[in-house]
Amino acid sequence: MSRLAGKVALITGAASKPGLGNSTALRFAQEGARLVITDINEEGLKACEQEIRDAGGEVVAWRQDVTAESDWQETLDRTIESWGKLDILVNNAGIAVLRMVDVMTPAEFEKQMAVNMTSVFLGTRKAIPLMRKNGSGSIINLSSIAGLVGIPGASAYAASKGGVRLFSKTVALECARENIRCNSVHPGVIWTNIQQDAIRDNPEQYEIINASIPMGRMGDPEDVANCILFLASDEARYITGAEFVVDGGMTAQ
Ligand SMILES: NC(=O)c1ccc[n+]([C@@H]2O[C@H](COP(=O)([O-])OP(=O)(O)OC[C@H]3O[C@@H](n4cnc5c(N)ncnc54)[C@H](O)[C@@H]3O)[C@@H](O)[C@H]2O)c1
Repeated sequence: MSRLAGKVALITGAASKPGLGNSTALRFAQEGARLVITDINEEGLKACEQEIRDAGGEVVAWRQDVTAESDWQETLDRTIESWGKLDILVNNAGIAVLRMVDVMTPAEFEKQMAVNMTSVFLGTRKAIPLMRKNGSGSIINLSSIAGLVGIPGASAYAASKGGVRLFSKTVALECARENIRCNSVHPGVIWTNIQQDAIRDNPEQYEIINASIPMGRMGDPEDVANCILFLASDEARYITGAEFVVDGGMTAQ
């Protein structure tokens, strides 16, 4: 398969397995992309890099904290050194600070915004000039259904993901004439480490959540990776400023 043949893609937050960045990296490699994968978790990152290489994929990997502007500069410089260009940016790295608003500290709120929202701004502003040189590009930002509807206990997370949603549409409009597309992806409940951490203290939530999803189950990381793959590929060449919900019907209710 070669839906991304000739393309260079950068995916942040690729270390966690099961995780959306990790699954997307494997899927992109299967479709012929040359990859840069980054994360703050170097051990998980190495494992992902090895898995892709073992499957015959082309990948380089290094530590990047997405909240640090200097790390973004270094990452994009090294991307050009490694592969000569950048076609696709997947802003995937994220955390979930889940606390009721009246007990959340300002520091927790700021941290949530830095990792999930400011990072997307930092990466996008530096990726656009590189994509401009190619005459095209695709930026895919991970938002959430929490960026579409309110969820109790998720106010900071929702603020960050709602921000990502409208940031993506605005970037899409600013870059449309340059053939640089920007879309947001809104997963529902997907069985990854972020979700397993959230449910660890309340295991009974597992069945309750499954029952609340119209399709009767949480999503697999590949369910989201396949959507991101489509948006990254030229099959989505006329799609920009759009939001793609991957939630088994949750927000259709
Ligand atoms: N899993 C879900 O149900 C779900 C639902 C909606 C949205 N999302 C979003 O999808 C994205 C991926 O989520 P996931 O479920 O794979 O989570 P995950 O926790 O499994 O993976 C997230 C990765 O981001 C990395 N990361 C965290 N802070 C970082 C930083 N400062 N710099 C670089 N890397 C950092 C982590 O080390 C980890 O490898 C996130 O943005 C998340 O908010 C997930």
